[in-house]
Amino acid sequence: MPKRRILVTSALPNANGSIHLGHLMEHIQTDIWVRFQRLQAHQCIYVCADDTHGTATMLKAEEQNITPEAFIEVIHAEHVRDFHDFLISHDNYYTTHSPENQEYSSLIYNGLKESGYIRRKTVDQLFDPEKQMFLADRFIVGTCPRCHAEGQYGDNCEACGATYDATDLINPTSKISGATPILKASTHLFFALSEFTDFLKAWTRSGTLQEQVANKLAEWLDTGLQDWDISRDAPYFGFEIPGEPQKYFYVWLDAPIGYMASLKHYCDRTEGLTFNDFWDANSSCEVHHFIGKDIVNFHALFWPAMLHATGFRTPTKVHAHGFVTVNGQKMSKSRGTFINARTFLDHLNPEYLRYYFAAKLNGNVDDLDINLEDFTQRVNADLVGKVVNIASRCAGFINKQFDGKLADQCSNPLVLQTAAARDIIAGHYEAGDYSKAIREIMALADKANQFIAERQPWILIKEEANRDLVQQVCSDGLNLFRLIVTYLKPVLPGLSLASEKFLNIDPLTWASLETQLTSHQINDFTPLMTRIDQKSVDAMIEASKQDQDSVPDVPTTSDLAAEIEFSDFAKVDLRIARIVNAEHVQGADKLLRLTLDIGFEERNVFAGIKSAYQPADLVGKLTVMVANLKTRQMKFGASEGMVLAAGDGGEEIFLLEPDSGAMPGMKVT
Ligand code: MSP
Ligand code: ZN
Repeated sequence: MPKRRILVTSALPNANGSIHLGHLMEHIQTDIWVRFQRLQAHQCIYVCADDTHGTATMLKAEEQNITPEAFIEVIHAEHVRDFHDFLISHDNYYTTHSPENQEYSSLIYNGLKESGYIRRKTVDQLFDPEKQMFLADRFIVGTCPRCHAEGQYGDNCEACGATYDATDLINPTSKISGATPILKASTHLFFALSEFTDFLKAWTRSGTLQEQVANKLAEWLDTGLQDWDISRDAPYFGFEIPGEPQKYFYVWLDAPIGYMASLKHYCDRTEGLTFNDFWDANSSCEVHHFIGKDIVNFHALFWPAMLHATGFRTPTKVHAHGFVTVNGQKMSKSRGTFINARTFLDHLNPEYLRYYFAAKLNGNVDDLDINLEDFTQRVNADLVGKVVNIASRCAGFINKQFDGKLADQCSNPLVLQTAAARDIIAGHYEAGDYSKAIREIMALADKANQFIAERQPWILIKEEANRDLVQQVCSDGLNLFRLIVTYLKPVLPGLSLASEKFLNIDPLTWASLETQLTSHQINDFTPLMTRIDQKSVDAMIEASKQDQDSVPDVPTTSDLAAEIEFSDFAKVDLRIARIVNAEHVQGADKLLRLTLDIGFEERNVFAGIKSAYQPADLVGKLTVMVANLKTRQMKFGASEGMVLAAGDGGEEIFLLEPDSGAMPGMKVT
């Protein structure tokens, strides 16, 4: 099979809120596809980024009294951690607020301009006279001109479904200041999308889109495309348009270019990877975008037209998916079904969710329902009851009776049949029909269990004459398990890794499906996955009800403690200390006992940093301590001072370390 070179992206999550089940579905869907390609030894680069620009980011940062740059940095760190913990294997998770993105956005814009595809038009727009800014539709509310429902947004009415211009609203008000907006004229820049109608009619029908999506777009293409407004007036958080002071690129102009920028940033740090290989007009690489159905027009109309117009290649495929619902309804904060990534992780194993999505994703744009009862039942029945069960039924005999050694041959027809399913399963993965892949795999797992149940090694073992047979049956069982885990590896990388350890083997690949383990030494069996406890699901729902705002706390000026005099500060005697010993304290779940050398003496200090540090990692470090704190008598002994650390607790504790050159005993001022 020739080696494919593939670039894959997921839509860039907005940098104004937390990662939730909807984003996760998309990234898990993408990640399974990516891992499947890599398992087949294709080169597959997976990039993403935070989508940082726009009015929403600007206003949220303003609310918190910080710069948009500081705001998006906090969100970025949170997003990276969430995706990492869901085992999403991005090669690069970047930001659209980057030099690379500015460079490519300007390049593409200038290219469009030089080719005459940028037009200037004056538009009348609602303007907030108090805030001195133009208002996007989402920042205007008023009464629907058709049904007179109140509190409707500037683009469409949620009550009657009417779509209209913000200027048609009755009694419009600015959501930002509450002022009554006025009409104001401004010059905007437009991309002449309408000139690409014929190109897009062909492109959307060239196998790049799912049929449902192509049909939907055909409606638009037939009624005629409007030119696309790509500029926004200051104040706006984004990139200023070259040669157009006070005008910024509309966030949707630079967002998809963020895919390129993330790849560029990755190529610049990676040996042997060249940006142009992927994006040149005549590139032999593939580019695949995974997105939600709500942003199809941006990816399948504006984006290919922009690329085509500026001499870049267009995407190989745009894979659109539907929306996540929970228990048949839209995710809802009050029902506790608007579940953030972190809340899920606090209560459940991420692979449960990966498996459930895989079992339901079929590559079309229908919405995907998470029925929480079905979720629990399905994961427990399939993963614990079927897959892990194969290993746990066989491992004990091999380990206890045969010193962990597998039989010296494997010619069981079921093993061969299971290995022979690889092309069918690969076809389903490739097509994005993971649910069919899972159905095949679970049918094979059923057969494996059936085989073991029929042979009954637990009965056979009672007769000495059957020993070889028991070893053969259990070895065949473990070979079946190994094949099934290989098939599931794109979905369950964690379970696969644990299984590779248990089986004592190199990383499983699609190619290794052609071999079996014979005369092979395995390791002790440790439970590979535990059942979902309904209580954990309930606790997650309860916790989601409490998740008030999906934006993390960014420190603000209002968090500052009351002002003090310099003389108050001077009372605190801070000293550089060397940690000469650190140890656990019996019976204390937060504290470590530290012995601190402050030059002229040693101090015994109990510090609440156990959740973030291993004692061995602390010994030898320099830190800062309060040296004149009154000795405090604690349950475990006297604490003679305090060490200084940043953070909120848990793993978020960061001990202060002085710059090199500081010496124990030095005063800190
Ligand atoms: N920033 C844009 C994408 C720019 S891509 C160049 C955006 N961001 S988003 O955060 O609103 O959504 C990111 C992705 O998550 C989109 O593909 C969107 O469809 C998907 N989802 C957001 N909520 C979703 C659900 N409830 N269900 C499934 N996917 C959903 O759009
Ligand atoms: Zn209405």
